[in-house]
Amino acid sequence: MTVTNRVITPGMFIGKEGPDIISFGSGQPDLEPPFDIGDVLLNFNKFKYGKVGGEDELKSRLREYVKSEFGQGVEQDYIVVTNGASEALDLALRRISLRSDGSRVLLTKPYYYSYPELVKINHMVPVYTDANIDLEDVKEKSETADAMIINSPANPTGSTLEKDVLRAIQEITEDNSCVLISDEVYHSLTYETEHYSPKGENVVTINSFSKTYSLCGYRVGYVFSQDADFMAGILGIKAHSSMNTNLLSQKVALECLSVPKEHIMDNREIFRMRRDHIYRWIKELNLEIEKPGGAFYVLPKVGDSMKMAEDLFFDYNVITYPGEWFGAEGYLRLSFALPIEKIDEGMRRIKSYIDIL
Ligand SMILES: Cc1ncc(COP(=O)(O)O)c(C=O)c1O
Repeated sequence: MTVTNRVITPGMFIGKEGPDIISFGSGQPDLEPPFDIGDVLLNFNKFKYGKVGGEDELKSRLREYVKSEFGQGVEQDYIVVTNGASEALDLALRRISLRSDGSRVLLTKPYYYSYPELVKINHMVPVYTDANIDLEDVKEKSETADAMIINSPANPTGSTLEKDVLRAIQEITEDNSCVLISDEVYHSLTYETEHYSPKGENVVTINSFSKTYSLCGYRVGYVFSQDADFMAGILGIKAHSSMNTNLLSQKVALECLSVPKEHIMDNREIFRMRRDHIYRWIKELNLEIEKPGGAFYVLPKVGDSMKMAEDLFFDYNVITYPGEWFGAEGYLRLSFALPIEKIDEGMRRIKSYIDIL
């Protein structure tokens, strides 16, 4: 007897590829990194431990980058280079959890699926406010929260928060002595508005090379804030956990910072075209959808999203992520970080599935 296990999990899909698989799944750019990384590899011969907070040359360039891209002046010592934004988030949350066990962390819902898990791993409690921000609710809930995480442009909705809303959240959290963690990994992918980065004493900013420079597998990100004590705490934790971030990856990241801005803008145009293309497809399928203003995700309303994601994977070789994983039951997340021909093929398969429902 054959037992068919049709259960899907995020772990099954991250990095999964195959000749006939169309993946609208994991959020990583299909575009090449901006230069031939082989050249960097050939000439690299550092193999001893590096500085826990990151290599000086990279941090010095990051300081300039943070000034020009995020409009924030920050001391080089208050930047810590990490194994992707993932480690940066974990370190920031670990640092917050040292305040007291059971601290509350306010998340906007739908959320990036690792946020609640990271909060819980660090013995804290996630509390939620709608991603369609209600400032009164943020005010009330941040009074009893030690931290809040915001993510604009957002995963999984692709939505962006207006500058005045971000400013208001920054003021409210500051008044409530609540740390504001701003996850800006999609900062270079905004299609309608300029990116705005919250600033202030209570703000901890997180960024990554994964999405902007197509460098997901190299695992380089960073975290910075104006709070010396907070950053010293993060460094202390990293010294006893992962220690330095991979030196070769840091060298590649350093090279990325010299890439002309036009390259990033060109990539953004590619993603904008794909966004418009997949949006048209979803409209044709008569599914309810908000047009995303950033990142590379769409989140149409589909009904039984878990069953749909399972059926699409097992019967149509199409990977999609059910909204349940992001606190968005009834919705399906599709990443459009794949070429137009693949988007077309995947959407044709999804259409034939919907047609027989
Ligand atoms: C919102 C958000 N934050 C953080 C990450 C993790 O990024 P990194 O590859 O830099 O660890 C992701 C990856 O998909 C993400 O979508």
